[in-house]
Amino acid sequence: MEKRKLKLGTVLMGVGGPGQHNAWLDPAIPTDASVDIWWYIARAQEAEKAKFDFIFIADSQFITADSPNHYLSRLEPLTLLSAVAVHTSRIGLVGTLTTSYNEPFNLARRLASLDHISGGRAAWNVVTSGDAGTAGNYSRDEHFDYETRYGRGLESVRIAQGLWDSYEPDAFPRDRERGVFFDRTKQHALNHKGEFFSVVGPLNLERMPQGQPVIFQAGDSPQGRDLGAEIGEVIFTFQPTIEAAVAFRTEMRERAREKGRDPDHILIAPGISAILAESDEEAQARQDAIFGAKSFDRALAELGRPFGWHDFTQYDLDAPFPDLPDEIGSNSFRSHVEAIKKLARENNLTLREVVQAQIDSGRSPFVGSPIKVANAIQEWFEAGAFDAINFFATTPQDYDLFLGQTVPILRERGVVRSDYESTTLRGNLGLPVPENRHTAARSGSPASNRDDEMATVH
Ligand SMILES: Cc1cc2nc3c(=O)[nH]c(=O)nc-3n(C[C@H](O)[C@H](O)[C@H](O)COP(=O)(O)O)c2cc1C
Repeated sequence: MEKRKLKLGTVLMGVGGPGQHNAWLDPAIPTDASVDIWWYIARAQEAEKAKFDFIFIADSQFITADSPNHYLSRLEPLTLLSAVAVHTSRIGLVGTLTTSYNEPFNLARRLASLDHISGGRAAWNVVTSGDAGTAGNYSRDEHFDYETRYGRGLESVRIAQGLWDSYEPDAFPRDRERGVFFDRTKQHALNHKGEFFSVVGPLNLERMPQGQPVIFQAGDSPQGRDLGAEIGEVIFTFQPTIEAAVAFRTEMRERAREKGRDPDHILIAPGISAILAESDEEAQARQDAIFGAKSFDRALAELGRPFGWHDFTQYDLDAPFPDLPDEIGSNSFRSHVEAIKKLARENNLTLREVVQAQIDSGRSPFVGSPIKVANAIQEWFEAGAFDAINFFATTPQDYDLFLGQTVPILRERGVVRSDYESTTLRGNLGLPVPENRHTAARSGSPASNRDDEMATVH
């Protein structure tokens, strides 16, 4: 059997995401990178040349003046990816779309459109949105609570999967000689009535090249992990150490197995930043310089985000971390809030120390020369810490050195592929193509989309 290969993705964050307050000062980053489609296209083409599996576009829809620079002004993911699609031919296109502020029909249609436009390279990063303030942009007084968010999340994905099966693969003969454009027996309504949504269908778009887009998932609470185990084919996460990463991957594989899934069909893809230079010492010095230059005030303000933009400037920096009531942040990024509170409590930290710890949490375990970083990635991969990495470049220099030197070292060692195996993202990730449920029913084979837990009424 061929050895399992490490899969590669990269998160593109223009002028700098959380904690990257000074990234935009680098002369190698255009100051309008976050809204310049040609910047994304160039990065995607470079990643494609390096045989990456995918580019990854994160998203959110609520900002304040303290939001990270990239968040202040950025392109909508599927609009961006549609443009990248026509300037690339192999690389996967992952868009983050929330189930808390979208209708499933609209999500299913837009994602299927991207899959057609890209010839089978679309993926959906399913999130439920941590920013509670988003509610105010969608005519709602409050963000959905966790149970509702994740309930809607699961139902949305199941509906989308149902809609993607609206047409069987051979529904459109388009035979001019026989005068047969379409076979009406191969079109199926969904007639879904569930807890949160009612969707009749069918979707007005034929079966897509991949059958269905690849489903990514990001959300770390027990409810989030449960959703990931149920529907996620690639799980986006952050894990600080090799031990934590191995434990997370083991847990998610086990959770998937308990749901009746093949654990090899759920790939774990942590976000990994790397700081590179020709020598290890130079790379270490670069990391120290990057972290030394971080703005404490920006980090203090940004600490408020997981807590629903709670204002931490009101507290004494050198007093113990404030004892906040449970309601603050319980409905935003709850898992992150709990981790921060635990860290403060267990180590008796002051507010200043917590802010510093948040700044330092961005420090990477992958710092050094291209070969040192390649060694570390190989070690983590072989220990079972991940199936894929979602690479964050700290600076353009890191992007160039990682793609130009670290990846070729990993390729030479057979850790990553030397060429694409398939024209679709699903094919390159080694994930099965979901069979159309109606075709499966016709042929008597078991449908590969389990919707037994859905209140779907046919
Ligand atoms: C690694 C990771 C990446 C995420 N990326 C996004 C994102 O780009 N956009 C978004 O709205 N939410 C994102 N989320 C947040 C989820 O939508 C989720 O609502 C939030 O983390 C709170 O849920 P949790 O406690 O289950 O993590 C991400 C979560 C994780 C763990």
